[in-house]
Amino acid sequence: MSTKQVLPASGKLGILTPGMGAVSTTFMAGVELARQGLGQPIGSLTQMGHIRLGKRTDNRSPLIKDFVPLTEMDDIVFGGWDIFEDSAYDAALNAGVLPKEQLDSIGDFLKGIKPMKAVFDQRYVKKLEGTHVKGGENWMDLADQVRQDIRDFKANNDCERLVMVWCGSTEIFLAPGDVHQTIDSMEAAMREHHDQIAPSMIYAYAALMEGVPYVNGAPNLSCDFPAMVALSKREGVPIFGKDFKTGQTLMKTILAPGFKARMLGLSGWFSTNILGNRDGEVLDDPESFKTKEESKLSVLDTILQPDLYPQLYKDLYHKVRINYYPPRGDNKEGWDNIDIFGWMGQKMQIKVDFLCKDSILAAPIVLDLALFMDLASRAGMMGIQEWLSFYLKSPQAAEGLDPEHDLFIQLMKMKNNLRHLMGEDLITHLGTEYYD
Ligand SMILES: NC(=O)c1ccc[n+]([C@@H]2O[C@H](COP(=O)([O-])OP(=O)(O)OC[C@H]3O[C@@H](n4cnc5c(N)ncnc54)[C@H](O)[C@@H]3O)[C@@H](O)[C@H]2O)c1
Repeated sequence: MSTKQVLPASGKLGILTPGMGAVSTTFMAGVELARQGLGQPIGSLTQMGHIRLGKRTDNRSPLIKDFVPLTEMDDIVFGGWDIFEDSAYDAALNAGVLPKEQLDSIGDFLKGIKPMKAVFDQRYVKKLEGTHVKGGENWMDLADQVRQDIRDFKANNDCERLVMVWCGSTEIFLAPGDVHQTIDSMEAAMREHHDQIAPSMIYAYAALMEGVPYVNGAPNLSCDFPAMVALSKREGVPIFGKDFKTGQTLMKTILAPGFKARMLGLSGWFSTNILGNRDGEVLDDPESFKTKEESKLSVLDTILQPDLYPQLYKDLYHKVRINYYPPRGDNKEGWDNIDIFGWMGQKMQIKVDFLCKDSILAAPIVLDLALFMDLASRAGMMGIQEWLSFYLKSPQAAEGLDPEHDLFIQLMKMKNNLRHLMGEDLITHLGTEYYD
């Protein structure tokens, strides 16, 4: 197998985040703390994960970052947009995820990251009122302004390459319609300032037009429709969405494959959460919650395959609730009640109580996605990057295919993709010793 041509990770990589709230600033602060030797990038596969190569007896398991040419953390620079003027320091303090002492130890660095003016419209995020927002004639005009921001950022920060990761609030639910079908229909709708175009799409469009890979970390419709996929292919840029897989859904995609592997039945899965950060406040609006709900509900079906296993999973009742509860801040609590059944239909229950810090789980995902998307770009990959499904709740898949949600299949797929990229044998886990 030959090694694919991958351009070197030379020079600086700018990681741009529309939205500089809890997730984005926890990510930025964590990378800087790790660079200063003041913390470990725990949860990041690109920084801490190893990959087995060849036979088990070969004893070759390098760090992933030593195996594939990834940008070093030292070469990352940060930028972003927000509807509030707060610097990354103020936003991180406000989010209350990392303790103040830790933020103060890199205070000057965080204070130096100031958001650019956002593309925003309250119709799409009802609970927020922005003050640091661009004015423009229509969506296309606003996209041109974001494109200029991208070019300016690249030049001013001496970046060789850029990646954009949407870390903005969850927008209201939009289903793909006529305007989302072709590049022409999307661009016409942008010029008309059509209400089926949302601000997150403007950032995605601007990124792709500037040759910048784009990832959507939230559940709203942003790059997961035919026009945007076509644009990413036309421009030769990788895209991927959507919704970082953290918290309760991460647990779901860890547990459900286990039940299925053991052929245990499921009759009900009730998930409820309390959280009190700004994300929780935004999700308190039914229209934003609907976007999240669709994303959270989708994972079980493709893991459990009720069509193949009707006796076990056909009648599963799956319910997800999110409750805004300010006293908890970013420290979410997620409860799951899982009703399972086993041998001779005997019923059992499992209760999960996850005291989780959402942004702590999301920050390493932002880092890994940004680094892998940059790798994909340097390897000449374009369009939907399904091999990164591991990181997202609703991964985009090629047309006509269901996304893979099983965390362990996703990990295998991602590692095999890296082996393929570097000309190593794929690992099948076949035990050849039993055969002649
Ligand atoms: N924390 C997690 O584990 C997790 C998991 C999956 C998805 N997400 C999603 O990631 C996103 C960010 O989460 P968070 O906890 O950082 O939320 P947050 O509310 O702390 O930050 C979002 C930021 O985006 C800004 N914003 C809103 N609209 C914008 C726009 N049009 N342009 C620029 N900025 C805009 C807001 O002002 C806010 O500062 C949310 O959509 C959330 O649903 C988070």
